[in-house]
Amino acid sequence: MYKIISKRDLVPKIHLLKIAEPTLAKKSQPGQFVLIRIDEEGERIPLNIADWDENEGNVTVVFFENGATTHKLALLKEGDFIANFVGPLGVPTRIEKFGHVVCIAGGVATGFIIPMAKALKSKGNKVTSIIWEKTEKMVFWEDRLASASDKLIVATEDGSYGRKGSAPMLLKEMLESGERIDQVNAMGPGPMLKACSEVTRPFGVKTIVSLHSIMVDGIGMCGSCRVSVGGVTKFACVDGPDFDGHQVDWGLFFARNAIYIKEEKIAFDKHLA
Ligand code: FES
Repeated sequence: MYKIISKRDLVPKIHLLKIAEPTLAKKSQPGQFVLIRIDEEGERIPLNIADWDENEGNVTVVFFENGATTHKLALLKEGDFIANFVGPLGVPTRIEKFGHVVCIAGGVATGFIIPMAKALKSKGNKVTSIIWEKTEKMVFWEDRLASASDKLIVATEDGSYGRKGSAPMLLKEMLESGERIDQVNAMGPGPMLKACSEVTRPFGVKTIVSLHSIMVDGIGMCGSCRVSVGGVTKFACVDGPDFDGHQVDWGLFFARNAIYIKEEKIAFDKHLA
């Protein structure tokens, strides 16, 4: 069992859990994730690693509450325990000197793009980060991402804070203005990842997207996280989650991620009843 040593509600429906796990804290790297199971009856869900403290022996995850399991997870408190906390899983994000890197975080991803931005900056890259949220009340950790970047732009869909518009729109503006961008690293909702990839495609700017597929075992055996990249079958848990956004078969990705929508709704209704 794994103890929750800290729980915080960051903004509506986005929560933070700090969990004691010294081994995982020693091995975590930017871009990796964990598989969590609340109890013996629960499903396993992947959550991106937001932070880790090797000295104190803990790992932080930040998640969006959007179904039965994440709702149950959000109800847990400091001092509670979860049954499984497995990781770090996935190939760490490639951190090299690329030049000017734009890190894009949509929704909850602000919570876990920070280690990546920090690592890219410490490698000597110029890092411009973009936070994209629906509205002002969903913006969080602006200060943390700002200090991990050379420049930060915040955009909200309704214009209530920062620029009005979307991350792909801002990216397009930057590219059309002639600003040199050597790589884009994007984390967040699938449609945003796809839109960012389409924006950069005509400019030939490498775009790395972190894919959030349905996962069960997290070790490449069950096939549930299957994606197609460049016409080749890959497993997001062991080959990713980072992939070249220009090579992803987005139609297949969205179709596979929607497979259990009906069952997820039934499970959520049952949980709330
Ligand atoms: Fe089973 Fe990736 S989660 S193969």
